[in-house]
Amino acid sequence: MILTYLKIITYFIEFKFVRLSARLRGLPLNPLPKYDESQKAVINKATKDLLNDWRKSSLSYRTSQIDVIKHIKGLWFTLRDLSNFLKRKSAQNSYDFSDDIALDHYPSYLRRNYHYQSDGYFSKKSALIYDHQIELLFLGTAHLMRRVGYDFLRPHLNSDQFTALEFGAGSGTSAKQFMEVYPQCTLDLLDPSEQYLDYAFEIYPKTFNKKVTLALEELSECCEYYDVIFSCFTMHEIPCDYWKACLENIYKALSPGGLLLLLDSQQDHDSEKIHFALDDFQNDYYEPYFDDYRVTPLEEFVPSSGFKLIAKKNLLLSKAVIFQKV
Ligand SMILES: C[S@@+](CC[C@H](N)C(=O)[O-])C[C@H]1O[C@@H](n2cnc3c(N)ncnc32)[C@H](O)[C@@H]1O
Repeated sequence: MILTYLKIITYFIEFKFVRLSARLRGLPLNPLPKYDESQKAVINKATKDLLNDWRKSSLSYRTSQIDVIKHIKGLWFTLRDLSNFLKRKSAQNSYDFSDDIALDHYPSYLRRNYHYQSDGYFSKKSALIYDHQIELLFLGTAHLMRRVGYDFLRPHLNSDQFTALEFGAGSGTSAKQFMEVYPQCTLDLLDPSEQYLDYAFEIYPKTFNKKVTLALEELSECCEYYDVIFSCFTMHEIPCDYWKACLENIYKALSPGGLLLLLDSQQDHDSEKIHFALDDFQNDYYEPYFDDYRVTPLEEFVPSSGFKLIAKKNLLLSKAVIFQKV
C-alpha cells in the first residue's frame, strides 16, 4: 500500500519535473486545464473511489516489486525524447516516423503516431517511453485502474486456471499486471506491432504463452479456445467501423460462456459530469478515433454481436465492462 502511494507521488513529481524541463528548454507546452470546484470534486471523488477499490482488491493477489531500472530508463528516454515529441505535437504532425520504419503491412488507420509519440507503436524505444508516458498521464494510477478492473472479473471465473488473450497488448505491461492478478492463467498477447510484442517478451521473460502479431480484425484461425479475452485502453484506438469484425473474431475465439473484459475510457453516456475531462483528454492528446468512441456506448454495441452485458464498474475516469458470450 505504501509503495502504491509512493509510486503516485513519484509520478506526480516527475510530471511536474518534465513540464519544468520543457519550459526551461523553451519547448512548446500547452497550459494545464483549470478546473472549477465542481469539476475538482468529481475528480477527487473518482480518485478516492479508485483507491478504496484498490485497497480491497489488492488483498487478493501479490504485485511485483517496482523495477527501478526500468523506471529510470523510462524517465530518461521520456526526457530525451521530449523536444521531438512536443515539437511534433505543436505541429500536429501525426505522420512523422523515423525513416527505417515500414508501415505498409499495418492497417491503414494505424499508420500514424497516436499521442504524437515518437515512432507511434513501431519501435522498441517507443514501447519503453509509452509505458512511462501512460503512468505520467494518469499520475501513477494506470496500474491501479488495470488491476482493479482485472480483479472485477474474479466472481465470474470458474477456476484460477484459464486461457486468456489480451488484444492491444502493446508493451506487455498491462498483460504482466493481469498475470499478477491471475498467476495461474495462460496468457497470449495480440497486437499488430511486432516491435511492441518483442519488447514485451524481452522485458517480461517467461511470463506469457505466445505472441499473436495481428490486428484483432485479422484473427481468423482461432476457435473456442480462450476462456477470457480482454483489452485495456485499446477500443478507443480502433475505429468503430472495425468493431463489428473485431467482435466477430472475439466471439469465435471465446469458449462457450467465455468472458470479454473491456477496460477503457468512460464515454459520454456514462455521466455528463465527466464530459469536461473527456474534452480535455481529446484536446491535449492526439486520439484520432476518440470522437466516435465517446458516442458509441460499448454496453449497447457489444451485445449486438452475441454477448450479454454482465457487469460494469467505473475506474477513475475509465471503466471496466464485462460481457459473456451467449
Ligand atoms: C493505447 S495502447 C494499449 C496498450 C496496453 N494494453 C495498455 O494498457 O497500456 C493500444 C494498443 O492497441 C494496439 N492496436 C491498435 N489497433 C489494434 C487492433 N485492431 N487490434 C489489436 N490491437 C490493436 C496498438 O498497437 C497498441 O499497442
